[in-house]
Amino acid sequence: MAKIVVVVGVTGNQGGSVARRFLQDPQYHVRGLTRHPTSDMARELADKGVEVVQADLDDVESLKEAFAGANLIFTVTNYWEPFFRPDCRQEAAQLGISCRKYAYDVEYQQGKNMADAAAATVGSLDRNGLIASTLSHADKCSNGKFKRLYHFDGKADVFPHYVEEKHPELAKKMSCVQTGYFTSSYNLAPQSYFVKQTDDSFVMRFPTSPTKAVPHLAVNEDTGSFVYGVSQMPPGKSYMAESSTCSWTHFMQIWGSVTGKKGTYEQVSSNDMIEAAQDRAFGAELADMFAYSSEPGYDGGDETLLTAADIRKAGIDCPMTTLRQYMETADWSAVFGL
Ligand SMILES: NC(=O)c1ccc[n+]([C@@H]2O[C@H](COP(=O)([O-])OP(=O)(O)OC[C@H]3O[C@@H](n4cnc5c(N)ncnc54)[C@H](OP(=O)(O)O)[C@@H]3O)[C@@H](O)[C@H]2O)c1
Repeated sequence: MAKIVVVVGVTGNQGGSVARRFLQDPQYHVRGLTRHPTSDMARELADKGVEVVQADLDDVESLKEAFAGANLIFTVTNYWEPFFRPDCRQEAAQLGISCRKYAYDVEYQQGKNMADAAAATVGSLDRNGLIASTLSHADKCSNGKFKRLYHFDGKADVFPHYVEEKHPELAKKMSCVQTGYFTSSYNLAPQSYFVKQTDDSFVMRFPTSPTKAVPHLAVNEDTGSFVYGVSQMPPGKSYMAESSTCSWTHFMQIWGSVTGKKGTYEQVSSNDMIEAAQDRAFGAELADMFAYSSEPGYDGGDETLLTAADIRKAGIDCPMTTLRQYMETADWSAVFGL
């Protein structure tokens, strides 16, 4: 009988990539979760062989049903939906809290719901049966310097901390996968990523040190490959899913050599980044992330995180797309303004 892999966020970047990879292995039956099983994307996935199941991360009972009998569960949360949704902004204002904190509360609760639902089926899970997409704990890793990097701590407070504290049996079967900067994220903050100058050159402006290396991930191409590799590793380990690790200066050098444009990197203050942003709260959340990426580092300074190279060293196939390969195939016409 096929093993059941449950994929949260199957209609999204990370989950979609994970589903595509497991679909290639006939050993697995892929069950994908969505709130909207009749959406075009959900139907497309069903046509490809995914068992599409309706579930809501806000509803723990729906998750318990969807996770039941799973051999492997991949979890992910989307901080940015409650951050941006107009009704959530309104509710945050009524509660008298920032939209940043509001989205943290939602993400934290959704993470706890998934952990509780996974714990309810811990017996059916494989030895390495819960693979959680997460990030480093900014508050703890910076010794309190970054107290409001909510989209990091909303994940790390659950995966691994809540699971370790509340569900020790589940924790033994868990792997935590931190994900690098998505190479496709440039369109989210166009006023900081590739800012076109009058001479047709491009400048990238973040608060990260120009020499600090940060992890980059081709999310749609490689999350599946990485998670599939992790599923074959022993449990209880933490990872950084990255295709290339390099400074933003180097990133712009590669980009320039691929596109033929002049590209440079300039470190700016957090305030400068916030001022440039269209949405101040978004600018502040990102500015904290880019500053934190300098010290202690995007990964919180944790040098023990395993990478694709470590998975390959264990004899497990884990192909990843390099930054150059990603840039060579990406369509830059929107950035160029064509
Ligand atoms: N951008 C970056 O550089 C970067 C780097 C590292 C980490 N991240 C993190 O990546 C996360 C987003 O991941 P992604 O890009 O894969 O997300 P995405 O493409 O935006 O997709 C979000 C997925 O989550 C599902 N979802 C959202 N709310 C749900 C709910 N209440 N119940 C059930 N399903 C729900 C959606 O399903 P339906 O809509 O179909 O229900 C969709 O499949 C964020 O938390 C972000 O912090 C981003």
